[in-house]
Amino acid sequence: MKNNLPVKFFELSKTFGETVAVDSADFSIQKGEFFGLLGPNGAGKTTLIKMLIGLATPTEGTAEVFGYDISGDYRQVHKFIGFAPAEANLDREFNIFDNLRFHAGYNGIPARDRGKKAEEQLRTFDLWKKKEDKPYELSTGMRKKLLFARSLIADPEIIILDEPTAGLDLETKETVQNYVKKITSQGVTILFTTHQIDEAEKLCDRVAIMREGRIVEIGDPEELLEKGQGDLVRIKLDEDLRRLPKTLLENGFRAELDRDSGEVRAVVADGSEAAAGILQILHTSDIATRSVHIEKASLEDLFLRLTAKNKSITDD
Ligand SMILES: Nc1ncnc2c1ncn2[C@@H]1O[C@H](COP(=O)(O)OP(=O)(O)O)[C@@H](O)[C@H]1O
Ligand SMILES: [Mg+2]
Repeated sequence: MKNNLPVKFFELSKTFGETVAVDSADFSIQKGEFFGLLGPNGAGKTTLIKMLIGLATPTEGTAEVFGYDISGDYRQVHKFIGFAPAEANLDREFNIFDNLRFHAGYNGIPARDRGKKAEEQLRTFDLWKKKEDKPYELSTGMRKKLLFARSLIADPEIIILDEPTAGLDLETKETVQNYVKKITSQGVTILFTTHQIDEAEKLCDRVAIMREGRIVEIGDPEELLEKGQGDLVRIKLDEDLRRLPKTLLENGFRAELDRDSGEVRAVVADGSEAAAGILQILHTSDIATRSVHIEKASLEDLFLRLTAKNKSITDD
């Protein structure tokens, strides 16, 4: 290792034609940290990760892994990282035991240890009894666990998991989350992606929220909440509105209309003050209201506000 910093991005960008998939990512991940990339589909999470492990070439900027450049020192970088992709890239021809054994081989584990390593991981993930199965014979949850097991086979310093719990039922999701927590307690660094806020809030030391290629917020979940201000105001309307009156924005209320629930929502510092102001404006505009709720904002509220594309009133 050239330094003790698992990951450092330097204005890293990637474009595909017109699409800016990753836009100047510039942050670091600390040793032992559980770091989450949180963002909706298409935000650029997978592309960012792929550049780190050499599966995509940066358009601009670079990144370092323990001081090694991802392009120039690709081979060194590869040794530090275990990667579980979002979609299975397992070998259909071989059973899962052999899949793991061969992977151990690619990762430089001596031949005599490969079987032992493969067995160890299959047992840990409760897949040993399936060892003769081909990857496609497994359930989605088992396959996710297998990808995860495979990423751990060479005892990497950094584990990168792309949507490890997407598409899993609640029980399997918890099992996978528990494995993730177990390996973190052993001091490795984890970078994982999710579009599920509850998961990010539950697992991560720090979260970067991504939207359309940009990191829009970064911090520990609690800190983000404070930044995102404290209260969620929900005002239920007594009629179907298409859009909110402009006067709301003109008066400094960054409210949004949720047409599914028929609610006006705003994440604000002081819920009761904002609720009173918003109500007054709604009434002035002859919009009938049914109820008012004020509650502490969750990371989800902040996330939705930061990543919403089609807001009836924008923040900008
Ligand atoms: N190989 C590719 N060719 C063209 N566009 C791509 C490619 N990979 C990703 N993109 C585009 O880049 C953006 C980010 O995608 P991705 O990194 O997969 O997002 P996420 O993982 O957050 O869902 C999307 O608009 C996607 O369509
Ligand atoms: Mg993705």
